[in-house]
Amino acid sequence: MAVSGLIFIGFLLIHMYGNLKVFAGHDAFNEYAHHLRTFGEPMLPYGGLLWIIRVTLIAALVAHVSSAVMLTIRAGKARTTKYAVKKNLASSLSSRTMRWGGLALFIFVIWHLIHFTIGKVNPTGGATNDPYQLVVDSFGLWWMVLIYLAALVAVGLHLHHGTWSAMQTLGLTGSPRARSRAKAAGLVIAVLIAGGFALVPLSVLFGIVA
Ligand code: HEM
Repeated sequence: MAVSGLIFIGFLLIHMYGNLKVFAGHDAFNEYAHHLRTFGEPMLPYGGLLWIIRVTLIAALVAHVSSAVMLTIRAGKARTTKYAVKKNLASSLSSRTMRWGGLALFIFVIWHLIHFTIGKVNPTGGATNDPYQLVVDSFGLWWMVLIYLAALVAVGLHLHHGTWSAMQTLGLTGSPRARSRAKAAGLVIAVLIAGGFALVPLSVLFGIVA
């Protein structure tokens, strides 16, 4: 779970950073999208790098979901009698929403792929083969921005607890000092990734990127 989670964090950091190319303008963003496909040629075929990334992400997803299912079954077996009274004393919102939040993210990613990669659906009916235009047209619509911001809240919550949890699994929370460092890492990763992604739709909505 921890290793596949770290693969996702790495992907999200790179994806978020790449998206910031919209601030460099139409040509720079589209050039970047094109470069992603020609990277490594002729050693790699056209789109080769993207396929390496996709296969890695799919393998990580299989590992992540099957670990989540196994952990849920194990947790169920560990307590067969229900609590008479359940009181939240120490858990955080992010730790309590890992399962449902993870499922919501899965549904969001399917929608996101249909929107930008597989389907290239332009909700305004405009150009679909121009990645920059697709981004600008999509986030000119307030409800589209709302969908993405809601997903980014889910991303932030999931990463906040997930980063801490991965560090715990990897033995990096052995002392009070290490624990507060792991908590800080969770917060920094969550804010950096969710905040960095949110800059793009918000900048389009408020006319900074057009
Ligand atoms: C405002 C937020 C986001 C924007 C504007 C955005 C934009 C894009 C665009 C334009 C592509 C197509 C790239 C290309 O084909 O050249 C893409 C692909 C993708 N995005 Fe996002 N994205 C955002 C957030 C996310 C989040 C939060 C996740 C995961 C939780 C994610 C996961 C993916 C995946 C898995 C792909 C497919 C990569 C591929 O195999 O082609 N994205 N995104």
